Amino acid sequence: MANATGLISAYATCTGRRNLSSYGISRSGFLSVERNMKRVFLCSAVEGVEGHASGAPSSKPRASRLLGKGCKLVGCGSAVPELMISNDDLAKIVDTSDEWISVRTGIRNRRILSGNETLTGLAIEASRKALHMAQVEPDELDLILMCTSTPDDLFGSGPQIQKELGCKRNPLAFDIRAACSGFLLGLTTAGSFIRAGGFENVLVIGADALSRYVDWTDRGTCILFGDAAGAVVVQACNDDENALLGYDVHSDGDGQKYLNATIKDKEAENVLGSNNGAAGFPPGLSSYSCIQMNGQEVFRFAVRCVPQSIEASLVKAGLTSSSIDWLLLHQANQRILDAVATRLRIPSDHVISNLANYGNTSAASIPLALDEAVRGGKVQAGNIVATAGFGAGLTWGSAIMRWG
Ligand code: COA
Repeated sequence: MANATGLISAYATCTGRRNLSSYGISRSGFLSVERNMKRVFLCSAVEGVEGHASGAPSSKPRASRLLGKGCKLVGCGSAVPELMISNDDLAKIVDTSDEWISVRTGIRNRRILSGNETLTGLAIEASRKALHMAQVEPDELDLILMCTSTPDDLFGSGPQIQKELGCKRNPLAFDIRAACSGFLLGLTTAGSFIRAGGFENVLVIGADALSRYVDWTDRGTCILFGDAAGAVVVQACNDDENALLGYDVHSDGDGQKYLNATIKDKEAENVLGSNNGAAGFPPGLSSYSCIQMNGQEVFRFAVRCVPQSIEASLVKAGLTSSSIDWLLLHQANQRILDAVATRLRIPSDHVISNLANYGNTSAASIPLALDEAVRGGKVQAGNIVATAGFGAGLTWGSAIMRWG
């Protein structure tokens, strides 16, 4: 078991030169610390593959920036597929009912990718909305974190999103794979890059299409999941504006047996073997199994670990649960939301829930629910939001943040 807890206000100073050229990025920085403020001169150079290939200069100066040691959330956005599948629709393909699903989970509908829709397309739509709200141009982004376990490209979708958004400076872009904790871990990763790396504008995307890995004949799992994308823009700020107040993150590989979608045993084509070559070579094409889940164990894990994690984050933030304006959990099951709220003594009208409409959208669920709550006027500037992700791995974690 590996545990890591952190207080966002702790930050690492760095001086000298960093070279990220293997990512298509060169970045050199100089920091001089003046009391609570860091002056960071980023002479950053950002070149895409084509720039290098054409013999263009490998570095262009970037404007000097004055950065603090805090970070804040300045925009959010979301996108969902067109196709809606209701509980009654599912009752036509497996032995279930609207009543069973809604009583046990709170879910009534979910959205599923169809036709020409792609997960990358949803992520781009959510990102554009978040950038618009934040009034940040794609060219101003320093980092894109695509949190997903179901990318359109096995090697990661982050760079594709960078391209489609038209980021001329080619910000560093990569994927984070941590299932339903993905967005929470992306958020804390963004904070770390801002504090320790001098990054200023970070786009954190949570997007998943678990419908691709659902066994649509298994009534125990197919009722739960849906597809979606959400995004936030996290921005560097001075310490006195810091809005990511504390976090707490964990993983426990021993619990993987309760929730997974592992690679299937390959049926080796054995072409060479049949010709007296190496047995089992070349290997057959690999694929993943459908989602395997022990629902009761996952339920128990969530209601035990999530309140503990939020309490740890509150301590790090120097707050108590009475300071929480909104409890925004990964939207897995209404009964999990209710149980965690009861443990933390948070009234039900302070719990954000939209899973009736979308089901469990994995890494997308937190930014999707946040976006709806912000645009719907529920979450307002200055509100304290306690958020937590949990799921396969097992992984889980929480963060206390102030919106706006
Ligand atoms: N419709 C009707 N009956 C169903 C059903 C469905 N969709 N799914 C399961 N059942 C049946 C079972 O076969 C079982 O029947 P039996 O008693 O005749 O054997 C019965 O309902 C109870 O099954 P059980 O698995 O004990 O139900 P449950 O109360 O634990 O609810 C979950 C199942 C999946 C809704 C619940 O365990 C859960 O939500 N767990 C957390 C899962 C989760 O959030 N995963 C993602 C985390 S990121």
